[in-house]
Amino acid sequence: MKWQSRHLLGLEGVSAEEIRLILDTAGSFKEILERPIKKVPALRGITVANLFFEPSTRTRFSFELAEKRMSADSVSFSTATSSVKKGETLKDTVKNIEAMRVDMVVIRHSAAGAPHFLARCVDAAVINAGDGAHEHPTQALLDMMTLREKYGSLEGLRVVIVGDIAHSRVARSNIWGLRTMGASVIVCGPKTLLPLDVEQLGVDVSVNLDEALEGADVINVLRLQLERQTQGLLPSMREYNREYGITLQRLAGAKESLTIMHPGPINRGVEITPQVADGPYSVILDQVLNGVAVRMAVLFLLSGGEPKLT
Ligand code: CP
Repeated sequence: MKWQSRHLLGLEGVSAEEIRLILDTAGSFKEILERPIKKVPALRGITVANLFFEPSTRTRFSFELAEKRMSADSVSFSTATSSVKKGETLKDTVKNIEAMRVDMVVIRHSAAGAPHFLARCVDAAVINAGDGAHEHPTQALLDMMTLREKYGSLEGLRVVIVGDIAHSRVARSNIWGLRTMGASVIVCGPKTLLPLDVEQLGVDVSVNLDEALEGADVINVLRLQLERQTQGLLPSMREYNREYGITLQRLAGAKESLTIMHPGPINRGVEITPQVADGPYSVILDQVLNGVAVRMAVLFLLSGGEPKLT
């Protein structure tokens, strides 16, 4: 199979075959990351612009590293040091960058739909690195890669996503991807942090964490997105931690094979304790490593690369 889409804007509508293609390609690229010389010429001659209009550590670093590992030429931009500060629009910013013959644009933006808007304005391939509370497709892909490495398949896994579902692009992309790959998804959080129509995405919904965790294979723990909450949606952090914090005591009856995931950044002591985040169930740093491999795969496939590497 050859990758057909020009852009990667989200996982809504992406088929199981396409997801498998990205994960298989990422698996091949991961081997490069363990070599003494971590560099291949797969993207030589391709220029990538990384446009981060919102803060990022993992996503930005892993895209930049992926580009370097593949020998692409890349430039990075952050709002604080750009002409956005002087009032330049998103469209003008990207049109100007594209005029310098950029082939691919990676964009993170606080506005849902910003990557889709860009994809209509420019010829470059656009990759969504997180748009508002909408989607974060490469995060869900790296999460699925991590689970596939551990379990072999996503089919039939019971995945509980806990926390601020309403403001989470990670939750939305994971729901699309995991459902497509045959996992069952339960979302759990206080009513004020659950989107009204979330059942329509094909998930089960619970406000009771202990009930939701029964029989769980995977718990994906989300940060409270306080920067996106426009009103007080929680009585207090202490109450949130008591009702929804993931602690070792809460995991007492868990499966031995349980997996704890977190997309980061972690607020230790709020949604997860350090004992769980750093404990035996956690694959949080495996997720980070797989983030580089997945972004290498996405860049490669969108550049027109053939999936099977030799
Ligand atoms: N998971 C994630 O998107 O992290 P960053 O915000 O650090 O990129």
